[in-house]
Amino acid sequence: MTFDILTLFPGMFAGPLSESIVGRAVSAGLIDIRCHNIRDYATDRHRTVDDAPYGGGAGMVMKVEPLAACIEQVKAERPGAQVLLTSPRGIPFNQQMARELSCEPGLIIICGRYEGIDERITELYVDREVSLGDFVLTGGELAAMVLVDAIARLLPGVLGCGASAHDESFADGLLEYPQYTRPPEYRGLAVPEVLLSGNHKEIARWRRRQALLRTLAGRPELLSSVELTPDERELLKRMREDGHD
Ligand SMILES: C[S@@+](CC[C@H](N)C(=O)[O-])C[C@H]1O[C@@H](n2cnc3c(N)ncnc32)[C@H](O)[C@@H]1O
Repeated sequence: MTFDILTLFPGMFAGPLSESIVGRAVSAGLIDIRCHNIRDYATDRHRTVDDAPYGGGAGMVMKVEPLAACIEQVKAERPGAQVLLTSPRGIPFNQQMARELSCEPGLIIICGRYEGIDERITELYVDREVSLGDFVLTGGELAAMVLVDAIARLLPGVLGCGASAHDESFADGLLEYPQYTRPPEYRGLAVPEVLLSGNHKEIARWRRRQALLRTLAGRPELLSSVELTPDERELLKRMREDGHD
């Protein structure tokens, strides 16, 4: 899968996307990440990429022409790639969207700066506006890195043997159960007995129950879209009655 990132600050990506799992996926040729400097597409002497907003107001707006030229060049090289705009106005990014986007052949991700980009870019080129949440970042670069990281790890071969994206938070609509590793006791806190038992059926039951309880405590709204057995429904009902939500 290819990721093309359109940014005024390509230098921000070198560290985060060259280390660890994503870095190894790039080296192995499983994903291709290219950063394009929008400023390279400005044609005036000062390579201007921003201008004052029509109608007045604080800050600057990213100009349409350099960004449009950059998008058109990259789209020509990546037919079929979906164009994403990072934006606090976008649809909130989540695991479901990460899964959908991981099926695309390529993504072109636009990183805004200043007060954002000229609206005509959105009208002409953008397939989806994606938000990381209800807060405002200084630019779309960190958002783009988050998208690449969350999407890349869902692609075949990226996590490697021994790690799985099937058995973690949101995979089945629930938050993940608690995890432990050695030692079996630390500062008086023991690992739950069942995890040392070797009884895989009991361990799976315990983990499912813990995932349900954690979701009930932290993100109860997620439970409405989870398939529950009658026993699990009863368990949650009891927990609610006991005041655990
Ligand atoms: C300072 S912000 C612009 C905020 C804009 N004036 C507004 O009020 O919605 C600059 C850029 O950062 C990125 N950005 C900021 N917050 C974001 C968020 N929550 N999710 C995704 N991108 C964000 C976008 O690319 C945006 O164009």
